[in-house]
This record gives sequence, C-alpha cells and structure tokens, in this order.
Amino acid sequence: MLVFMEWPVIEVLESERLTLEPVSVDHASAMVDVLSDARLYEFTGGEPPSLDVLAARYRRQVRGPADGSGAWFNWMLRERAAGTLVGFVQATVHTGDRGPLAEIAWLIDPAHQRQGFAAEATAAMVAWLRSRGVTAFAALIHPDHTVSQRVAHRLDLRPTPQLDDGEVRWESPPGNDETP
Ligand SMILES: CC(C)(COP(=O)(O)OP(=O)(O)OC[C@H]1O[C@@H](n2cnc3c(N)ncnc32)[C@H](O)[C@@H]1OP(=O)(O)O)[C@@H](O)C(=O)NCCC(=O)NCCS
Repeated sequence: MLVFMEWPVIEVLESERLTLEPVSVDHASAMVDVLSDARLYEFTGGEPPSLDVLAARYRRQVRGPADGSGAWFNWMLRERAAGTLVGFVQATVHTGDRGPLAEIAWLIDPAHQRQGFAAEATAAMVAWLRSRGVTAFAALIHPDHTVSQRVAHRLDLRPTPQLDDGEVRWESPPGNDETP
C-alpha cells in the first residue's frame, strides 16, 4: 500500500474548456458572486459567504490542515473563453485503509450549470490525483441530489450503505485502486 512521504503539491490544471487554478485569497472577491446564489446550498446546507468569511476560508485552504494529517487541494474553475470563474472542485487527501484516499466535492455557479463543467473539472482533478498516487476516491451526496449522483457516477464512484449526517457516502470500488 502506497503511503505518501510528502503530500503532492497542487498545480494549475487545464481541461478542455477550464483552467483549474489553485485557490488563493485573491479569488475571494470574484468567488463571492459565484457563491451568492442560495440554490447552491439546497442539498449541502450552508449559506452564501460574505467577502470576509470567504477570504478567511481561502486563507485557511491555502495554509492546509494544521496537523499535517492530510492535504487540501482546492481549485477555482475559470472558463478560459470568457475568463470568468464558474465554480470550484476540492479534494481532501489522507491515508485511508486502502492507501491514499481523496474525499472530493464540486460546485458550479447556477448560471453555468448543465454545460458539463462539473463533469469536466472533476475528471481533470481525479486524473491528476491518480497521477500523483491517490488510489481511492469518496464523496458525500444527499440522497435526493440526482445531479451530483450523476457527476459521481461519471467518476466511477458508487453509493455505499454508509450514511454521514444524512448524506450517502459514495466510493470508488476497490478494483479501481490502481495508479497509472
Ligand atoms: C452538482 C453540480 C456541481 C453539477 O454541475 P453541472 O456543471 O451543472 O453538472 P454537469 O453539467 O457536469 O452535469 C452532470 C450530469 O448531471 C446532469 N444534469 C446537470 N444538471 C441537471 C439538471 N438540472 N437536471 C437534470 N440533470 C442535470 C447532466 O446531464 C449530467 O448528466 P450525465 O452525466 O448523465 O450526462 C451543480 O448542480 C452544483 O454546483 N450544485 C450545488 C453544489 C452542490 O450541491 N455540490 C455537490 C456537493 S456533493
């Protein structure tokens, strides 16, 4: 089983239409608009953050976990053609029973949904994490959140019987634990 001696270092990633930019505090002023629509929180809970709250969140995300027990990867998604931010993808990586495991999540601005951006961005993130040695993936998804379930399916995650605070844990099947 692979165990990281050092956590991978986040990089800029490019997908067909998106640039995945490692989060910085400078992203907060534009992302506060992306995150302002209450519909985004229907299944996950939470509420639109203020600029101060978001800047503080991004400062923490850049620093990473204080105890070094894992690593946080947060990418802001920029649609290259328009130059605008359309959402984010994120992964928390730690050593699980099956080796390096990434707990992943995604969000796309309602004005840019239904264009395949979540599928595109999460595929780029997962491919990069796999290339860096992450072998297992998991996500928590509300049982009624069919759109997110489709995103997870596309990543070859499958629902498990495990519930976490009302959300179903989806995981990559053990047979997929291969590094490229
Ligand atoms: C979940 C979310 C990221 C999807 O973003 P998106 O960019 O619109 O998703 P995509 O366009 O990549 O579509 C993914 C799949 O869902 C389907 N889909 C997207 N929006 C849909 C809708 N409103 N109704 C039905 N199907 C929809 C797509 O057809 C696609 O299905 P396919 O894989 O079978 O082709 C977005 O709805 C969102 O940010 N929601 C709020 C935040 C959230 O709940 N995040 C998830 C936490 S686990």
